[in-house]
Amino acid sequence: MIYLKTSEEIALMREACNLVSRTLGEVAKWVTPGVTTLKLDTIAREFIQDNGGKPACLGYGGFPGTLCIEVNEVVVHGFPSNYALREGDIVGLDCVVELNGYNGDQCYTFPVGEVSPEVMALLKTTKESLYKGIAACKEGNRIGDIANAVQTYCERRGYSIVREMCGHGIGRSMHEDPEVPNYGRKGMGALIKNGMCIAIEPMVNMGKRNIVIGKDGWTCRTRDGQPSAHYEHTVAIMGGETEILTTFDYVDQVLGNNAI
Ligand code: MF3
Ligand code: CO
Repeated sequence: MIYLKTSEEIALMREACNLVSRTLGEVAKWVTPGVTTLKLDTIAREFIQDNGGKPACLGYGGFPGTLCIEVNEVVVHGFPSNYALREGDIVGLDCVVELNGYNGDQCYTFPVGEVSPEVMALLKTTKESLYKGIAACKEGNRIGDIANAVQTYCERRGYSIVREMCGHGIGRSMHEDPEVPNYGRKGMGALIKNGMCIAIEPMVNMGKRNIVIGKDGWTCRTRDGQPSAHYEHTVAIMGGETEILTTFDYVDQVLGNNAI
């Protein structure tokens, strides 16, 4: 069942989303060779708690972190650990914050130091595909339009789309209906309506699309061991307009990126 939100609820979503975005901006300052992913997780948890939020992933189905840590071939749902990031790695940091009963969900994949041009190109295409998906996320369109926009953009550039993991509706719960796949056909799936809040999150592989889940029951890796990238925004559809509730501005300020 899809919960349509009132403008008052979307205002609360906006606050939760702003906090998750500021959290990734804070963590971005620490993403450098030598830092452990556990340290990044602690920075995120303390920042969220200091700002009155709740780290929503922590304890969710037994998940042990505030951040999902996605190093190189890890697609999603990796645990924080004593692994120290190395020059040339990429690390996706996926974070959900609950504030005033509503959730904001966002992911950014960071280069660690100098990263090969091939891997930088994967990051660029994946981030761009998120915005292609958002552009297709319009009132009156269907979820399949988002899915198709992401898939087409990435596959044309030679990358593959993870199919087992999806974006999702979001609100009082981190995961609500509808599922938002990153592959599919235009015109299929649920109608996009005013009041919908969804998390769009392309997971894009350099090699083949296949994944394996680790013995911990969570860590999802590419089967071929090639890198995978992941970017995510939470958006709301209101008054016929789509608003991106999260922002990469805080991360961009730290990294010195020019926002797309
Ligand atoms: N953004 C991730 C998702 O939508 C967050 C997962 S949190 C976890 O699946 F606790 F389930 F890991
Ligand atoms: Co999500």
